[in-house]
Amino acid sequence: MILFRATIPFPADVDLSRVFFWTLITVTTAAFPVKLPGGVVAHITTAPIIAAVFDSQLANPFAVCWIALLGTTELRDVRGEVAWYGTLYNRFAYVLAAFAAWLVFNFVQPALRADIAFSTVALIVLVGLAFSVTNMFLAVAAASLRTNSPMARIWALSVSNTLFGTIALVFLGWLMAEVATKVGLWASVLFMVPLLLARYSFTKYAETRAMFLGTVSALSQAIDAKDGFTRGHADRVSRIAGAIAREMGLSERNIEEIELAGMLHDIGKIGVEDQILMKPARLDPHEQELMRRHPIYGASILKPSESLRPLVPLVLHHHENFDGSGYPEGRKGDDIPLGSRIIIVADAYEAMTSDRIYRKAIGHERAMDQLNRYKGIQFDPKVVRALGTLIEKHGAAAFEVSELPQINYETLAELRKRLAREPLARDAHAG
Ligand SMILES: [Fe+2]
Repeated sequence: MILFRATIPFPADVDLSRVFFWTLITVTTAAFPVKLPGGVVAHITTAPIIAAVFDSQLANPFAVCWIALLGTTELRDVRGEVAWYGTLYNRFAYVLAAFAAWLVFNFVQPALRADIAFSTVALIVLVGLAFSVTNMFLAVAAASLRTNSPMARIWALSVSNTLFGTIALVFLGWLMAEVATKVGLWASVLFMVPLLLARYSFTKYAETRAMFLGTVSALSQAIDAKDGFTRGHADRVSRIAGAIAREMGLSERNIEEIELAGMLHDIGKIGVEDQILMKPARLDPHEQELMRRHPIYGASILKPSESLRPLVPLVLHHHENFDGSGYPEGRKGDDIPLGSRIIIVADAYEAMTSDRIYRKAIGHERAMDQLNRYKGIQFDPKVVRALGTLIEKHGAAAFEVSELPQINYETLAELRKRLAREPLARDAHAG
Protein backbone atom coordinates (compact mmCIF):
# COMPACT_ATOMS: atom_id res chain seq x y z
CA MET A 1 0.00 0.00 0.00
CA ILE A 2 2.84 2.37 0.84
CA LEU A 3 4.55 1.57 -2.45
CA PHE A 4 1.28 2.06 -4.33
CA ARG A 5 0.56 5.36 -2.62
CA ALA A 6 4.10 6.62 -3.27
CA THR A 7 3.90 5.76 -6.95
CA ILE A 8 0.37 6.80 -7.92
CA PRO A 9 -0.01 9.55 -8.91
CA PHE A 10 3.47 9.44 -10.37
CA PRO A 11 5.51 12.22 -8.72
CA ALA A 12 6.24 15.05 -11.16
CA ASP A 13 9.87 15.85 -10.39
CA VAL A 14 11.43 12.39 -10.59
CA ASP A 15 14.96 12.19 -11.91
CA LEU A 16 14.83 8.54 -12.94
CA SER A 17 18.54 8.33 -13.68
CA ARG A 18 19.27 9.35 -10.09
CA VAL A 19 16.88 6.69 -8.76
CA PHE A 20 18.57 4.22 -11.06
CA PHE A 21 22.02 5.24 -9.74
CA TRP A 22 21.11 4.62 -6.08
CA THR A 23 19.36 1.37 -6.99
CA LEU A 24 22.53 0.25 -8.74
CA ILE A 25 24.72 1.10 -5.71
CA THR A 26 22.28 -0.73 -3.42
CA VAL A 27 22.19 -3.80 -5.66
CA THR A 28 25.99 -3.89 -5.66
CA THR A 29 26.16 -3.81 -1.87
CA ALA A 30 23.36 -6.39 -1.63
CA ALA A 31 25.61 -8.80 -3.52
CA PHE A 32 27.71 -9.15 -0.34
CA PRO A 33 25.40 -10.49 2.38
CA VAL A 34 26.77 -11.81 5.69
CA LYS A 35 25.08 -14.70 7.43
CA LEU A 36 25.19 -14.00 11.16
CA PRO A 37 24.85 -16.63 13.88
CA GLY A 38 21.17 -16.95 14.79
CA GLY A 39 20.01 -17.02 11.17
CA VAL A 40 19.79 -13.30 10.40
CA VAL A 41 21.45 -12.11 7.20
CA ALA A 42 23.19 -8.74 7.57
CA HIS A 43 23.62 -6.27 4.75
CA ILE A 44 25.57 -3.16 4.04
CA THR A 45 22.63 -1.93 1.94
CA THR A 46 21.67 0.21 4.94
CA ALA A 47 24.17 2.88 3.81
CA PRO A 48 22.88 3.57 0.27
CA ILE A 49 19.22 3.38 1.40
CA ILE A 50 19.89 5.96 4.14
CA ALA A 51 21.75 8.00 1.51
CA ALA A 52 18.62 7.95 -0.65
CA VAL A 53 16.56 9.24 2.29
CA PHE A 54 18.96 12.18 2.75
CA ASP A 55 19.46 12.94 -0.97
CA SER A 56 17.48 16.17 -1.40
CA GLN A 57 17.36 15.79 -5.18
CA LEU A 58 15.28 12.61 -5.05
CA ALA A 59 11.48 12.67 -5.18
CA ASN A 60 10.78 10.92 -1.91
CA PRO A 61 9.19 8.71 -0.66
CA PHE A 62 8.77 7.36 -4.21
CA ALA A 63 12.53 6.98 -4.62
CA VAL A 64 13.39 5.34 -1.29
CA CYS A 65 10.56 2.82 -1.57
CA TRP A 66 11.60 1.69 -5.03
CA ILE A 67 15.32 1.71 -4.22
CA ALA A 68 14.61 -0.41 -1.13
CA LEU A 69 12.39 -2.77 -3.11
CA LEU A 70 14.60 -3.30 -6.16
CA GLY A 71 18.02 -2.54 -4.73
CA THR A 72 17.96 -5.16 -1.98
CA THR A 73 17.39 -8.05 -4.38
CA GLU A 74 20.15 -10.56 -3.84
CA LEU A 75 21.68 -13.31 -5.92
CA ARG A 76 20.02 -15.95 -3.72
CA ASP A 77 16.61 -14.40 -4.57
CA VAL A 78 17.35 -14.52 -8.30
CA ARG A 79 18.68 -18.08 -8.08
CA GLY A 80 15.53 -19.16 -6.28
CA GLU A 81 17.37 -20.25 -3.11
CA VAL A 82 14.82 -18.40 -0.99
CA ALA A 83 11.12 -19.32 -1.03
CA TRP A 84 9.00 -16.73 -2.89
CA TYR A 85 7.30 -15.61 0.32
CA GLY A 86 10.72 -15.17 1.96
CA THR A 87 11.85 -12.95 -0.91
CA LEU A 88 8.62 -10.93 -0.71
CA TYR A 89 8.92 -10.62 3.08
CA ASN A 90 12.52 -9.41 2.91
CA ARG A 91 11.80 -6.91 0.10
CA PHE A 92 8.82 -5.39 1.89
CA ALA A 93 10.68 -5.36 5.22
CA TYR A 94 13.15 -3.03 3.49
CA VAL A 95 10.39 -0.91 1.92
CA LEU A 96 8.74 -0.51 5.34
CA ALA A 97 12.06 0.35 7.00
CA ALA A 98 12.98 2.86 4.28
CA PHE A 99 9.54 4.45 4.48
CA ALA A 100 9.79 4.69 8.28
CA ALA A 101 13.17 6.41 7.89
CA TRP A 102 11.71 8.87 5.37
CA LEU A 103 8.71 9.57 7.63
CA VAL A 104 11.00 10.44 10.54
CA PHE A 105 13.20 12.56 8.25
CA ASN A 106 10.17 14.42 6.94
CA PHE A 107 8.73 15.12 10.38
CA VAL A 108 11.95 15.99 12.20
CA GLN A 109 13.87 17.97 9.58
CA PRO A 110 11.58 21.04 9.41
CA ALA A 111 11.77 21.33 13.21
CA LEU A 112 15.57 21.41 13.28
CA ARG A 113 17.91 24.26 12.53
CA ALA A 114 20.43 23.25 9.88
CA ASP A 115 23.11 25.61 11.19
CA ILE A 116 23.47 23.73 14.46
CA ALA A 117 25.73 20.71 14.07
CA PHE A 118 24.06 18.89 16.93
CA SER A 119 20.67 18.96 15.23
CA THR A 120 22.11 17.34 12.12
CA VAL A 121 23.61 14.55 14.19
CA ALA A 122 20.28 14.10 16.00
CA LEU A 123 18.48 13.91 12.67
CA ILE A 124 20.87 11.23 11.38
CA VAL A 125 20.49 9.22 14.58
CA LEU A 126 16.68 9.39 14.50
CA VAL A 127 16.46 8.47 10.82
CA GLY A 128 18.95 5.65 11.36
CA LEU A 129 17.01 4.37 14.36
CA ALA A 130 13.73 4.36 12.46
CA PHE A 131 15.30 2.38 9.63
CA SER A 132 17.29 -0.06 11.77
CA VAL A 133 14.64 -0.76 14.39
CA THR A 134 11.97 -1.51 11.75
CA ASN A 135 14.33 -3.59 9.64
CA MET A 136 15.92 -5.52 12.51
CA PHE A 137 12.62 -6.17 14.22
CA LEU A 138 11.17 -7.69 11.05
CA ALA A 139 14.34 -9.73 10.40
CA VAL A 140 14.58 -11.03 13.98
CA ALA A 141 10.86 -11.87 14.07
CA ALA A 142 11.18 -13.89 10.86
CA ALA A 143 14.32 -15.72 12.03
CA SER A 144 12.66 -16.42 15.38
CA LEU A 145 9.59 -17.95 13.73
CA ARG A 146 11.68 -19.94 11.27
CA THR A 147 14.09 -21.42 13.82
CA ASN A 148 11.49 -21.62 16.59
CA SER A 149 13.75 -19.90 19.10
CA PRO A 150 13.05 -16.87 21.29
CA MET A 151 13.50 -13.41 19.76
CA ALA A 152 15.78 -12.34 22.61
CA ARG A 153 18.21 -15.08 21.66
CA ILE A 154 18.30 -14.19 17.96
CA TRP A 155 18.74 -10.55 18.94
CA ALA A 156 21.65 -11.36 21.24
CA LEU A 157 23.33 -13.62 18.72
CA SER A 158 23.07 -11.60 15.58
CA VAL A 159 22.03 -8.03 16.12
CA SER A 160 23.58 -6.85 19.37
CA ASN A 161 27.11 -7.64 18.19
CA THR A 162 26.74 -5.80 14.92
CA LEU A 163 24.98 -2.75 16.32
CA PHE A 164 28.09 -0.59 16.08
CA GLY A 165 28.58 -1.64 12.47
CA THR A 166 25.01 -0.61 11.72
CA ILE A 167 25.45 2.79 13.36
CA ALA A 168 28.56 3.32 11.23
CA LEU A 169 26.55 2.42 8.12
CA VAL A 170 23.90 5.03 8.95
CA PHE A 171 26.50 7.83 9.24
CA LEU A 172 28.21 6.60 6.12
CA GLY A 173 24.85 6.78 4.32
CA TRP A 174 24.34 10.40 5.33
CA LEU A 175 27.87 11.22 4.17
CA MET A 176 27.21 9.54 0.82
CA ALA A 177 24.16 11.73 0.29
CA GLU A 178 26.11 14.90 1.22
CA VAL A 179 28.90 14.04 -1.19
CA ALA A 180 26.45 13.06 -3.93
CA THR A 181 24.58 16.38 -3.76
CA LYS A 182 27.58 18.66 -3.18
CA VAL A 183 30.33 17.01 -5.23
CA GLY A 184 28.50 14.73 -7.62
CA LEU A 185 27.07 11.27 -7.87
CA TRP A 186 30.35 9.81 -9.09
CA ALA A 187 32.08 10.77 -5.82
CA SER A 188 29.70 8.70 -3.69
CA VAL A 189 30.84 5.60 -5.59
CA LEU A 190 34.13 6.00 -3.69
CA PHE A 191 32.24 4.97 -0.54
CA MET A 192 32.13 1.43 -1.80
CA VAL A 193 35.61 0.97 -0.29
CA PRO A 194 34.68 1.67 3.38
CA LEU A 195 31.41 -0.18 2.82
CA LEU A 196 33.18 -3.33 1.76
CA LEU A 197 35.55 -2.92 4.71
CA ALA A 198 32.55 -2.73 7.06
CA ARG A 199 31.21 -5.89 5.52
CA TYR A 200 34.58 -7.56 6.07
CA SER A 201 34.35 -6.88 9.81
CA PHE A 202 30.84 -8.38 9.92
CA THR A 203 32.14 -11.52 8.23
CA LYS A 204 35.07 -11.73 10.60
CA TYR A 205 32.72 -11.66 13.59
CA ALA A 206 30.63 -14.51 12.20
CA GLU A 207 33.70 -16.55 11.23
CA THR A 208 35.49 -16.06 14.55
CA ARG A 209 32.43 -17.13 16.45
CA ALA A 210 31.92 -20.26 14.33
CA MET A 211 35.59 -21.14 14.82
CA PHE A 212 35.36 -20.64 18.59
CA LEU A 213 32.26 -22.84 18.92
CA GLY A 214 33.86 -25.46 16.68
CA THR A 215 36.92 -25.57 18.92
CA VAL A 216 34.86 -25.85 22.10
CA SER A 217 32.85 -28.65 20.56
CA ALA A 218 36.03 -30.47 19.49
CA LEU A 219 37.40 -30.20 23.02
CA SER A 220 34.16 -31.50 24.43
CA GLN A 221 34.23 -34.46 22.04
CA ALA A 222 37.71 -35.25 23.29
CA ILE A 223 36.32 -35.79 26.81
CA ASP A 224 33.36 -37.80 25.60
CA ALA A 225 35.74 -39.95 23.57
CA LYS A 226 37.99 -40.64 26.54
CA ASP A 227 35.18 -41.19 29.00
CA GLY A 228 33.79 -44.13 27.04
CA PHE A 229 30.41 -44.35 28.76
CA THR A 230 29.17 -40.90 28.08
CA ARG A 231 28.74 -40.40 24.39
CA GLY A 232 27.19 -37.02 23.65
CA HIS A 233 26.85 -36.45 27.41
CA ALA A 234 28.56 -33.06 27.54
CA ASP A 235 26.53 -31.82 24.58
CA ARG A 236 23.26 -32.79 26.27
CA VAL A 237 24.32 -31.34 29.62
CA SER A 238 25.10 -28.10 27.82
CA ARG A 239 21.66 -27.93 26.19
CA ILE A 240 19.82 -28.81 29.40
CA ALA A 241 21.84 -26.31 31.46
CA GLY A 242 21.22 -23.61 28.83
CA ALA A 243 17.48 -24.31 28.85
CA ILE A 244 17.34 -24.13 32.67
CA ALA A 245 19.28 -20.86 32.63
CA ARG A 246 16.84 -19.42 30.10
CA GLU A 247 13.88 -20.63 32.17
CA MET A 248 15.40 -18.85 35.19
CA GLY A 249 15.47 -15.62 33.20
CA LEU A 250 19.25 -15.15 32.99
CA SER A 251 20.72 -12.86 30.36
CA GLU A 252 21.68 -14.30 26.95
CA ARG A 253 25.33 -13.66 27.79
CA ASN A 254 25.10 -15.75 30.99
CA ILE A 255 23.12 -18.42 29.19
CA GLU A 256 25.84 -18.78 26.61
CA GLU A 257 28.53 -18.96 29.29
CA ILE A 258 26.60 -21.71 31.07
CA GLU A 259 26.12 -23.61 27.80
CA LEU A 260 29.84 -23.47 27.07
CA ALA A 261 30.74 -24.47 30.64
CA GLY A 262 28.24 -27.34 30.36
CA MET A 263 30.03 -28.44 27.23
CA LEU A 264 33.43 -28.36 28.95
CA HIS A 265 32.53 -29.19 32.56
CA ASP A 266 34.38 -32.51 32.57
CA ILE A 267 37.35 -31.40 30.45
CA GLY A 268 39.58 -32.02 33.49
CA LYS A 269 39.00 -35.77 33.11
CA ILE A 270 41.76 -35.55 30.52
CA GLY A 271 44.08 -35.32 33.54
CA VAL A 272 42.71 -38.45 35.23
CA GLU A 273 44.53 -41.71 34.56
CA ASP A 274 42.83 -44.05 32.09
CA GLN A 275 42.72 -46.99 34.55
CA ILE A 276 40.61 -44.91 36.90
CA LEU A 277 38.51 -43.15 34.29
CA MET A 278 37.62 -46.34 32.44
CA LYS A 279 37.45 -48.67 35.44
CA PRO A 280 34.28 -50.74 35.07
CA ALA A 281 34.08 -51.44 38.83
CA ARG A 282 33.55 -49.14 41.78
CA LEU A 283 36.46 -46.82 42.60
CA ASP A 284 38.32 -47.37 45.88
CA PRO A 285 38.73 -44.34 48.21
CA HIS A 286 42.16 -43.45 46.82
CA GLU A 287 40.97 -43.63 43.23
CA GLN A 288 37.92 -41.59 44.17
CA GLU A 289 40.23 -38.97 45.61
CA LEU A 290 42.12 -38.77 42.29
CA MET A 291 38.88 -38.66 40.29
CA ARG A 292 37.66 -35.77 42.42
CA ARG A 293 40.53 -33.62 41.19
CA HIS A 294 39.01 -33.32 37.72
CA PRO A 295 37.29 -29.95 38.36
CA ILE A 296 40.67 -28.51 39.40
CA TYR A 297 42.36 -29.93 36.33
CA GLY A 298 39.53 -28.52 34.21
CA ALA A 299 39.93 -25.05 35.66
CA SER A 300 43.67 -25.08 35.02
CA ILE A 301 43.14 -26.24 31.42
CA LEU A 302 40.71 -23.40 30.68
CA LYS A 303 42.51 -20.61 32.53
CA PRO A 304 45.19 -19.80 29.92
CA SER A 305 42.60 -19.10 27.22
CA GLU A 306 41.22 -15.60 27.40
CA SER A 307 37.89 -16.48 25.82
CA LEU A 308 37.39 -19.52 28.06
CA ARG A 309 38.50 -17.87 31.31
CA PRO A 310 34.96 -16.75 32.32
CA LEU A 311 34.03 -20.46 32.45
CA VAL A 312 36.72 -21.31 35.02
CA PRO A 313 34.62 -20.80 38.22
CA LEU A 314 31.68 -22.64 36.67
CA VAL A 315 33.81 -25.66 35.82
CA LEU A 316 35.76 -25.59 39.10
CA HIS A 317 32.60 -25.77 41.23
CA HIS A 318 30.42 -28.13 39.20
CA HIS A 319 30.62 -30.79 41.93
CA GLU A 320 29.89 -28.54 44.90
CA ASN A 321 26.77 -29.68 46.75
CA PHE A 322 24.19 -27.16 47.92
CA ASP A 323 24.67 -28.15 51.59
CA GLY A 324 28.47 -27.79 51.39
CA SER A 325 29.27 -31.52 51.20
CA GLY A 326 30.72 -31.40 47.68
CA TYR A 327 34.20 -30.78 46.25
CA PRO A 328 36.77 -29.31 45.64
CA GLU A 329 36.14 -26.46 48.12
CA GLY A 330 33.00 -27.57 49.96
CA ARG A 331 31.23 -24.33 49.12
CA LYS A 332 27.66 -23.86 50.27
CA GLY A 333 24.45 -22.37 48.82
CA ASP A 334 24.81 -19.02 47.09
CA ASP A 335 28.62 -19.15 47.43
CA ILE A 336 28.57 -21.68 44.60
CA PRO A 337 28.37 -19.87 41.23
CA LEU A 338 24.80 -20.08 39.87
CA GLY A 339 26.14 -21.59 36.63
CA SER A 340 27.71 -24.47 38.58
CA ARG A 341 24.48 -25.04 40.53
CA ILE A 342 22.69 -25.30 37.18
CA ILE A 343 25.29 -27.59 35.61
CA ILE A 344 25.23 -30.09 38.51
CA VAL A 345 21.45 -30.47 38.10
CA ALA A 346 21.72 -30.78 34.31
CA ASP A 347 24.56 -33.29 34.72
CA ALA A 348 22.57 -35.48 37.13
CA TYR A 349 19.38 -35.27 35.07
CA GLU A 350 21.22 -36.18 31.87
CA ALA A 351 23.01 -39.10 33.52
CA MET A 352 19.70 -40.51 34.79
CA THR A 353 17.74 -40.09 31.57
CA SER A 354 20.26 -41.47 29.08
CA ASP A 355 21.21 -45.09 28.50
CA ARG A 356 24.58 -46.25 29.77
CA ILE A 357 26.38 -49.48 29.14
CA TYR A 358 25.85 -50.59 32.72
CA ARG A 359 22.23 -49.54 33.15
CA LYS A 360 19.12 -48.39 31.31
CA ALA A 361 17.82 -44.85 31.49
CA ILE A 362 15.13 -44.11 34.04
CA GLY A 363 12.20 -41.97 32.90
CA HIS A 364 11.84 -38.19 33.23
CA GLU A 365 9.44 -38.57 36.15
CA ARG A 366 11.69 -40.83 38.20
CA ALA A 367 14.66 -38.60 37.43
CA MET A 368 12.70 -35.59 38.68
CA ASP A 369 11.74 -37.55 41.82
CA GLN A 370 15.42 -38.15 42.52
CA LEU A 371 16.30 -34.50 41.95
CA ASN A 372 13.46 -33.43 44.25
CA ARG A 373 14.59 -35.83 46.94
CA TYR A 374 18.09 -34.31 46.97
CA LYS A 375 17.12 -30.67 46.54
CA GLY A 376 18.52 -28.55 49.34
CA ILE A 377 21.10 -31.30 49.93
CA GLN A 378 22.93 -31.76 46.65
CA PHE A 379 20.93 -29.43 44.41
CA ASP A 380 19.73 -25.85 44.56
CA PRO A 381 15.91 -26.06 44.97
CA LYS A 382 15.43 -23.05 42.64
CA VAL A 383 17.28 -24.84 39.84
CA VAL A 384 15.38 -28.11 40.31
CA ARG A 385 12.11 -26.16 40.26
CA ALA A 386 13.11 -24.42 37.01
CA LEU A 387 13.91 -27.78 35.38
CA GLY A 388 10.56 -29.16 36.59
CA THR A 389 8.63 -26.24 35.06
CA LEU A 390 10.61 -26.56 31.87
CA ILE A 391 9.76 -30.24 31.43
CA GLU A 392 6.12 -29.63 32.32
CA LYS A 393 5.91 -26.89 29.70
CA HIS A 394 7.81 -28.38 26.78
CA GLY A 395 8.61 -32.03 27.55
CA ALA A 396 12.02 -33.35 26.54
CA ALA A 397 12.00 -31.17 23.41
CA ALA A 398 12.76 -28.22 25.73
CA PHE A 399 16.47 -28.89 25.32
CA GLU A 400 16.80 -28.72 21.58
CA VAL A 401 17.19 -24.94 21.15
CA SER A 402 20.90 -24.17 21.05
CA GLU A 403 23.36 -22.44 18.77
CA LEU A 404 26.08 -24.94 19.57
CA PRO A 405 27.00 -27.39 16.85
CA GLN A 406 25.39 -30.83 17.21
CA ILE A 407 27.75 -33.57 18.27
CA ASN A 408 27.18 -37.09 17.13
CA TYR A 409 30.51 -38.84 16.98
CA GLU A 410 31.51 -42.34 17.94
CA THR A 411 33.47 -42.40 21.15
CA LEU A 412 37.12 -43.30 21.23
CA ALA A 413 36.19 -46.58 22.91
CA GLU A 414 33.83 -47.47 20.05
CA LEU A 415 36.42 -46.42 17.49
CA ARG A 416 39.01 -48.65 19.18
CA LYS A 417 36.64 -51.62 19.07
CA ARG A 418 35.75 -51.02 15.42
CA LEU A 419 39.36 -50.63 14.33
CA ALA A 420 40.30 -53.79 16.22
CA ARG A 421 37.80 -55.67 14.04
CA GLU A 422 38.87 -54.04 10.76
CA PRO A 423 42.65 -53.60 10.82
CA LEU A 424 44.07 -50.57 9.04
CA ALA A 425 45.33 -51.29 5.53
CA ARG A 426 48.96 -50.52 6.37
CA ASP A 427 48.94 -53.25 9.04
CA ALA A 428 48.91 -55.79 6.23
CA HIS A 429 52.39 -54.64 5.18
CA ALA A 430 53.76 -54.25 8.64
CA GLY A 431 55.34 -57.72 8.54
FE1 LIG B 1 32.35 -33.76 36.57
